[in-house]
Amino acid sequence: MAKEVVLTGLRANAEFHIGNYFGAIMPMVNLQKKHAGRYQINMFMPDLHSFTTPIDHGKLYEQSFQNLKVFVAAGLDTSNPDTYLYRQSYVPAHSELAWILDCFTGFGEMSRMTEFKDKSEKIGSERVTMGLFNYPVLMAADFLLYGARWVPVGEDQRQHLEYTRDIAQRFNSQFGDLFVVPADNTKQLEFFARDEPIRIRSLRNPERKMSKSIDDPAGTIMLSDDPAEAAKKVMSATTDNEAVVGSPTFNKRPGLANLLQILKLLNPAAADDIGNLNYNEFKQLVANHVSIFLSDLQSKLLAVNDSKISQKLTEDEEAMNEVANKTLLKVQKAV
Ligand code: ADP
Ligand code: TRP
Repeated sequence: MAKEVVLTGLRANAEFHIGNYFGAIMPMVNLQKKHAGRYQINMFMPDLHSFTTPIDHGKLYEQSFQNLKVFVAAGLDTSNPDTYLYRQSYVPAHSELAWILDCFTGFGEMSRMTEFKDKSEKIGSERVTMGLFNYPVLMAADFLLYGARWVPVGEDQRQHLEYTRDIAQRFNSQFGDLFVVPADNTKQLEFFARDEPIRIRSLRNPERKMSKSIDDPAGTIMLSDDPAEAAKKVMSATTDNEAVVGSPTFNKRPGLANLLQILKLLNPAAADDIGNLNYNEFKQLVANHVSIFLSDLQSKLLAVNDSKISQKLTEDEEAMNEVANKTLLKVQKAV
C-alpha cells in the first residue's frame, strides 16, 4: 500500500532569523527524522503564495533557493527516498485545481477568513489583491493534489485546514470519491504531538516576537549575521534591574527569559548553573554560543552542494507533476 502523505510548506520569501530557525526549520527537520520511512513526506515551497502580499520580485527565485539550502544546512536529508522537495510554481496543477475549487467556494466563506482580515489590515486596503483573498483555495489545492492526510499547520492556518476539509467533502459528496480528506485538527495535533510552540522574542523589545516583518535589526538575529555582530546584539539586549540571573520567567523578566530560552536551544548543558551569574557574565555566555552557532551553520551552508539540490528539485518536481496531474485529471473529468 502507498504510504500516507505528510505535507508541509516552507515559506521562503525573506531571509531567516533564529526565530524561524527554532520555530519552523528545526521542527520540519525533526518531522522528517521522525516520520520518513513510515510516511511519505512532501516538503514544498509555496512560492505562488509568496506574492499574495507585496514582495521584491527580483529576489524571490534566489531567496527560495537560498532558504532551501538553509534547511539542508540545518540537517534536512535530501537523499531520503520518502522525502519530496518541490516548488509550487513548478507544478502547474496547483493553479488549475485552485481555479476549479474557486468555482465551488462561497464568497462569504472566504470573507470570513481571519488571516485575510488581519493581513488586509496590515498592508492597507488599496494593496489587497484577489490573490490574498484566494490564498486558502490555493492552499487547499496544495493539500488535495497529493492526498495529504497529515498537515502540521500553525494556529493561524487552522481555518484554512477546516475549509480544505469542507471543500473536499463537498466535492466527494457531489462527484464521488475524488479527494482524501485531511484529518481534522484534533487528530493533527495528536499525530504531531507537539510540545509548546517555541517563540523567540525580540532582543530589544522582549514583549514582542522576533520578526523580519518588523523593522528591528538590533532585536533580530539573522542567520546571515556576522557572528561577532550577532554577539554584540546579545550584549546589548534589553534586560532588567536585578543583580543576578536567577530563574527568570516571560511574565516577570521577559528579556532574560528570552536569552535563557535561546541558550537552552543552542546548548542545553550550557544553561545549567547560570542562576548566580551577573548579567554581563550571562550575556557573554549567550553571545558566545550564538556566535558559535552562526559560524557553524554558515560554514555548513557554504558546504551545501547547489547542483545536488537542483537535481533533487528537478527529479521530485517531475514525480510530483505526475501525481498532481492524475488528481487534477480526475477532477477535470468530474467537472
Ligand atoms: P516573520 O514574523 O519573521 O515574518 P513568518 O511569519 O514568515 O516570520 O514565519 C515563518 C515561520 O517561522 C512560521 O512557522 C513561524 O511560526 C516561525 N517563526 C517566525 N517568527 C518566530 C519567532 N520569533 N519564534 C519562533 N518561531 C517563529
Ligand atoms: N499558508 C502557509 C503560511 O502562511 C504556507 C502554506 C501554503 C502551507 N500552503 C501550505 C503550509 C500547505 C502547509 C501546507 O505559512
